[in-house]
Amino acid sequence: MTLVAPGEWALVTGASSGIGACLATRLLERGIPTLLVARTAAPMEALAARFAGRVPCEVLVTDLAREGAAADLFARSEGAGKPVGLLVNDAGFGWNGAFDAQPEELLTAMLTVNVVAPAALTRAFLPAMRARRRGRILNVASTAAFLPNPYFAAYSASKAFLLSLSLALREEVAKDGIVVTCLCPGVTRTPFFEPAGMDEKKLRAFGLLDPDTVAERGLRALGKGKALSITSPRDRLWIALLRLVPRGLPPKVAAALFARSSVGGGATERRY
Ligand SMILES: NC(=O)c1ccc[n+]([C@@H]2O[C@H](COP(=O)([O-])OP(=O)(O)OC[C@H]3O[C@@H](n4cnc5c(N)ncnc54)[C@H](OP(=O)(O)O)[C@@H]3O)[C@@H](O)[C@H]2O)c1
Repeated sequence: MTLVAPGEWALVTGASSGIGACLATRLLERGIPTLLVARTAAPMEALAARFAGRVPCEVLVTDLAREGAAADLFARSEGAGKPVGLLVNDAGFGWNGAFDAQPEELLTAMLTVNVVAPAALTRAFLPAMRARRRGRILNVASTAAFLPNPYFAAYSASKAFLLSLSLALREEVAKDGIVVTCLCPGVTRTPFFEPAGMDEKKLRAFGLLDPDTVAERGLRALGKGKALSITSPRDRLWIALLRLVPRGLPPKVAAALFARSSVGGGATERRY
């Protein structure tokens, strides 16, 4: 199934790094015109340069923690004659440590990028998709969405929001020809961990996923109109088992695991 109609664009947040960069690359390889969104211009410009003259690709440098970012992106895409047929909400970051040790400004920024921005972008682009009676939304949550993780509490809750929003919205918009898919990777080899205050070496026991594999499986699930893409079979198994145990038990197990993966609290300042 094609992901966008001729003349439409994909808009990918978090396209400067990790899973988002892989998603954008895979879309461009499919010949889909793509708008790249993040704060760091250089890697996005390099990606656009790779496809120059072959597939339209533009860089929209944006801080999604800033108020009005969604309206601004809408004006620079849909409002500028570039209809967005596929919205990919990938941008996000984490923070590992005691809940009340996370600086308040950083907590607010994290919830804005992980929760408010995808909701606001979806709210901005959905009416035009409904009017065209087609569209696709890929939300990058996490396996953390299924498990309240102590020492990763606000991040896990932010991903639970995105999972819940995706599954509910999917039912609202199906009648208008719009597909919403939630991509839930497990631990994936990207630059996510260091700013989150996590020791990647300690996480290798979980089996690090390749970001390109995560991206491709997510896009295939979206193409097939699936509700969920949980990348690895191992993650699918423990998520299925969660339904069989009392709700209070998994967070107790996760507390032990996450306390060990922490390097003593996440970053205390925003990266820039
Ligand atoms: N790696 C994992 O194990 C894992 C597992 C499950 C889910 N995820 C999710 O996957 C998504 C991508 O993460 P990743 O692992 O690929 O990490 P990453 O390499 O650190 O990528 C994060 C992306 O989010 C963007 N971003 C962060 N803050 C932003 C802001 N204020 N405004 C605009 N863009 C912002 C970053 O761009 P700039 O810094 O250039 O702005 C970057 O492109 C996230 O939502 C993450 O929660 C990751």
